[in-house]
Amino acid sequence: MFPPIDRHGRGLRDLRISVTDRCNFRCRYCMPVESFGADHEFLPRAELLSFEEITRVARLSMPLGVRKLRLTGGEPLMRRGLADLVAMLAAMEGVDDIAMTTNGVLLAHHAEALALAGLSRVTVSLDSLDPATFARMNGVGAKVERVLAGISAALAFGLPVKVNAVVQRGVNESGILPLARWARETGIDIRFIEYMDVGETNGWKLDHVVSATEILETLRSEFPLTARDPAYRGEVARHWRHADGGPEIGIISSVTKPFCSDCQRLRLSADGRAFTCLFSDHGHDLRGILRSGLDDDAIRNVISTIWQIRDDRYSEARGEGSGQHKVEMSYLGG
Ligand code: GTP
Ligand code: 5AD
Ligand code: SF4
Ligand code: SF4
Repeated sequence: MFPPIDRHGRGLRDLRISVTDRCNFRCRYCMPVESFGADHEFLPRAELLSFEEITRVARLSMPLGVRKLRLTGGEPLMRRGLADLVAMLAAMEGVDDIAMTTNGVLLAHHAEALALAGLSRVTVSLDSLDPATFARMNGVGAKVERVLAGISAALAFGLPVKVNAVVQRGVNESGILPLARWARETGIDIRFIEYMDVGETNGWKLDHVVSATEILETLRSEFPLTARDPAYRGEVARHWRHADGGPEIGIISSVTKPFCSDCQRLRLSADGRAFTCLFSDHGHDLRGILRSGLDDDAIRNVISTIWQIRDDRYSEARGEGSGQHKVEMSYLGG
């Protein structure tokens, strides 16, 4: 029975927990303001899992193979008291890694409390260093300095930082080299991400994708890079090293070179649905089960069964025309 294996022989290693569907940014590729305006209805508070419920799901997932926890959103720091949740998760036995993906704007304020609570590291989304491009991409005119201050604060409190940059054609590809130079000087691992067709609102087209091959060619025009082997099965980025060492550069090619065959991630939405793929059209209602009074063994069995019946390989099957209605990344977390 334990640990469960899905229909393609994949184990469960990584639990990604969305703690809110709200965000203080309106990145065009994720929450375009036309679809997420002032009248947009976010999840009401009563529908969110409590920290106790989230911790229970995490605890029951550990014997099923989970080793890595990642807090996401929307923007996870929009959820009040997040450091309390980190402390509750960090107190569990057997967690190797508690990471958080954030846009970084509120990070300077929270970095100390998060580090003290036991967060292992942060991944900050930063798509451009150019103030005008950054303001345009985040949709609310947020300043790049605030994100940089968040990164500095995290580092100052001992939290390792990685940076994610989504690359969109005609929007920020001229910023690849400046970002790579900055990351190298600052000693930060950076990953460039192919723009993906998640959700239904961002108007994704294949022409907007800058491929991993093109990103690598751009980087190699300035840096002599050598490939490094994957650190673990299911690592989503292909990594490259500078000839003289220093931080790494990763490229995430979920469009042109999908990695479904190694995908070991389960996603928990803020309202307690379990999704076995970033591109799913529906999630399994764990909240109802958590609130139904079932005991730990029964709930663990439900999670195990959800994993065992999993058949997803969306990115590999992309183009085969599934026609499904995909949920938004701001709801599900990245
Ligand atoms: P590390 O633990 O630091 O290696 O991070 P990670 O790669 O597990 O997580 P991160 O949130 O930094 O992932 C980076 C980006 O890769 C995400 O924001 C997504 O854009 C993309 N990504 C992550 N997981 C998946 C996945 O399962 N499927 C697809 N298609 N893309 C993914
Ligand atoms: N394609 C690729 N990455 C995306 N992200 C959000 N939307 C997309 C998309 N359409 C990234 C964010 C962040 C992480 C949570 O997912 O920039 O780094
Ligand atoms: Fe941008 Fe992340 Fe917010 Fe989406 S959740 S709008 S990618 S900051
Ligand atoms: Fe995993 Fe789905 Fe992404 Fe494939 S498309 S790697 S199955 S989340």
